[in-house]
Amino acid sequence: MHTIVSFFTIISLAACTAQLPLPSTLVHQFPTGTYVENLRARQNGQLLVTLVAPSPNVYLIDPVLSPISPTSNFTATLVHSFPSAGLLGITEVQPDQFYVAAGNFSLATLDLGAGTWGVWSLDLRSYDPISNTGAVVKEVAPLPSVAFLNGMDTLDVAANLIVVADSVKGQIVMVDVETGDSRVLVSDAVLAPPAGASGLGINGLKVLKRGDTIYLYFSTQATALFGRIPVSICASHTVGPVEILSNGTVMDDFVLDEERGVAFMSGFTNTLLSMPLDGGELTTLLGGLNETVVAGPTSATLGRGLLDKDSVYVTTNGGLLAPINGTYIEGGKVLSVDISGYC
Ligand SMILES: *[C@@H]1O[C@H](CO)[C@@H](O)[C@H](O)[C@H]1NC(C)=O
Ligand SMILES: *[C@@H]1O[C@H](CO)[C@@H](O)[C@H](O)[C@H]1NC(C)=O
Ligand SMILES: *[C@@H]1O[C@H](CO)[C@@H](O)[C@H](O)[C@H]1NC(C)=O
Ligand SMILES: *[C@@H]1O[C@H](CO)[C@@H](O)[C@H](O)[C@H]1NC(C)=O
Ligand SMILES: *[C@@H]1O[C@H](CO)[C@@H](O)[C@H](O)[C@H]1NC(C)=O
Repeated sequence: MHTIVSFFTIISLAACTAQLPLPSTLVHQFPTGTYVENLRARQNGQLLVTLVAPSPNVYLIDPVLSPISPTSNFTATLVHSFPSAGLLGITEVQPDQFYVAAGNFSLATLDLGAGTWGVWSLDLRSYDPISNTGAVVKEVAPLPSVAFLNGMDTLDVAANLIVVADSVKGQIVMVDVETGDSRVLVSDAVLAPPAGASGLGINGLKVLKRGDTIYLYFSTQATALFGRIPVSICASHTVGPVEILSNGTVMDDFVLDEERGVAFMSGFTNTLLSMPLDGGELTTLLGGLNETVVAGPTSATLGRGLLDKDSVYVTTNGGLLAPINGTYIEGGKVLSVDISGYC
């Protein structure tokens, strides 16, 4: 008995010290000048990615088929182009009912598009990927008082509630995607850019349910924070102070992996990072400041298909905001990172 226990202990220890950097595969790369901002997996495993530039588009990418010809434009299907300038966060509420943050943010002028933001639905329940028809799109909640919408996640499926970050006002806004009603759920100086400074406050936003508590995990850009805020299960108010889990490393959006107990984050210095969900050491899993493998990462999500349960997909802007070595820019892409053997 003792030997068996030791045997499994050794196996699991070995599994937890997977060789770094983690292996990765290019799933799809868009032309230079494309800023891929965020992504979600459908329940069938296909990926939906949102673009900030050059156009406010949602593309469908099959992560199994696309790597066969990752730079061909045949392996990314334009599902919809929105009538705004940029798309940021995306989330799913009911199966195949997605929501995106859209507004007139211009990367060229850096006009943040205050007053133009809204949450739009992208309903794929009748969508046929072969003929690329059947997607139903409409604005469900104009949010004229928001300054800049960014990260987005689902708060409560049964109640049709999502949360979305306002990076300029330092707020987390709760939106009922059925009625279009919205209200500020959290407003905290820690989520705002520092007074008088440019840059964004809260950027990434994800929800973790644990017992009676819901944690709203966030990253901030200008102040380089990663942390979480507990809110009550009925989501009407915060129930504790902001907890800072990391201070000093700039991150964009991230994904929370409950099974492995870690967050996978896109690091501003061209890296994929991880940290235990309750805080702890920040580990660089892949990439580096002068490397292009994760050039300008923007978000991450977990595979949902039959074959990719051990994959984290990472989106990039190709270095558009901060060229590698000050000079190198490439097309934004979707990368698959193999997290089997990582915990
Ligand atoms: C795909 O790329 C080819 C050239 O490689 C181009 O001629 C064509 O217009 C592109 N199609 C789309 C839909 O962008
Ligand atoms: C965003 O810009 C487009 C093109 O300039 C314009 O038609 C649209 O009305 C703007 N949206 C909002 C909400 O102001
Ligand atoms: C983060 O660290 C900086 C520098 O040490 C410090 O000034 C700041 O107060 C910290 N922020 C938070 C929210 O703890
Ligand atoms: C950036 O510079 C480092 C050396 O300083 C070099 O090793 C690396 O190849 C460069 N990367 C690019 C993308 O040019
Ligand atoms: C990155 O490249 C710069 C020069 O381009 C060099 O000064 C720096 O040490 C490099 N950093 C890393 C982490 O390789």
